[in-house]
Amino acid sequence: MEANPMTQDIRPEITPEPPAPREAASAAMSEARSAEVPDTTFGVIEHPDPIINCRDVNVFYGDKQAVFDVNLDIGRHQVISMIGPSGCGKSTFLRCLNRMNDTIDIARVTGTIELDGQNIYDPKIDVVPLRARVGMVFQKPNPFPKSIYDNVAYGPRIHGLAKDKVELDEIVRTSLERAGLLGEVKDRLDQPGTGLSGGQQQRLCIARAIAVSPDVILMDEPCSALDPIATAKIEDLIDELRENYTICIVTHSMQQAARVSQRTAYFHLGYLVEVGETDKIFTNPTHKLTEDYITGRFG
Ligand SMILES: Nc1ncnc2c1ncn2[C@@H]1O[C@H](COP(=O)(O)OP(=O)(O)OP(=O)(O)O)[C@@H](O)[C@H]1O
Ligand SMILES: [Mg+2]
Repeated sequence: MEANPMTQDIRPEITPEPPAPREAASAAMSEARSAEVPDTTFGVIEHPDPIINCRDVNVFYGDKQAVFDVNLDIGRHQVISMIGPSGCGKSTFLRCLNRMNDTIDIARVTGTIELDGQNIYDPKIDVVPLRARVGMVFQKPNPFPKSIYDNVAYGPRIHGLAKDKVELDEIVRTSLERAGLLGEVKDRLDQPGTGLSGGQQQRLCIARAIAVSPDVILMDEPCSALDPIATAKIEDLIDELRENYTICIVTHSMQQAARVSQRTAYFHLGYLVEVGETDKIFTNPTHKLTEDYITGRFG
């Protein structure tokens, strides 16, 4: 039984649910789908300055559909949160934005997703530079088993972003600074990244994403394995980062969505039910499903 998201800000680390009950729950919930889920998304899916445009996005795992006809613009230099009950397709949709679903054999994505007007699903697109432009930070901090320096230098090295050691040092320093970690690690850059605290490791992963100068950073529940102090630091950081980057964050914490994001998208059973200004979604949602979720009636 999932805790009420209105009352629980910091979730313990999530252990994957066994597939059978989830399948069963999902089948039971889909009974109600046709009655409840609207044909089109409520709210304004467009954004005046979009960096990403998603149109008619569907995702299938084998013959099972997980995301249905999502249309959404992602605004430049904004934070957008994606919320909704477990299994509603938030992570699946997020992974579409840098073609991370390509790494799952049975996953198939249809529709178009344009990054600054270019369809990222065009066969000509090379996913390596794409994933540098649209970086990702995962739920569990996952530094490489390398030094703090080498974790951050990894991307710039493989993408050839620095012409010499001086430039590389500068990229590492600025990335750590932007990730709010430089002060804590500057005297031990040669020590293993895995030796840092969980919150520091997550900021190291953010520094690693920043080091390749992305346009967009995808974050899938980046604070769910962190304590409240580390969470507060990451939330402050997200707010600062939006000056230079666009951030899409999946979160189960409504308080977090309300604190860090300007826009919020509510997913239900694989459908994007409603999207709008975060204040509006949390104070005056249009669709009943959104209201039920944000008032803690389910989820
Ligand atoms: N690799 C996979 N193979 C098969 N089905 C999958 C896979 N990943 C996700 N699914 C299914 O797709 C649906 C959406 O899952 P997804 O992980 O995107 O949900 P979510 O909203 O991120 O959930 P949570 O809040 O629990 O992380 C679920 O029914 C899930 O079981
Ligand atoms: Mg998820």
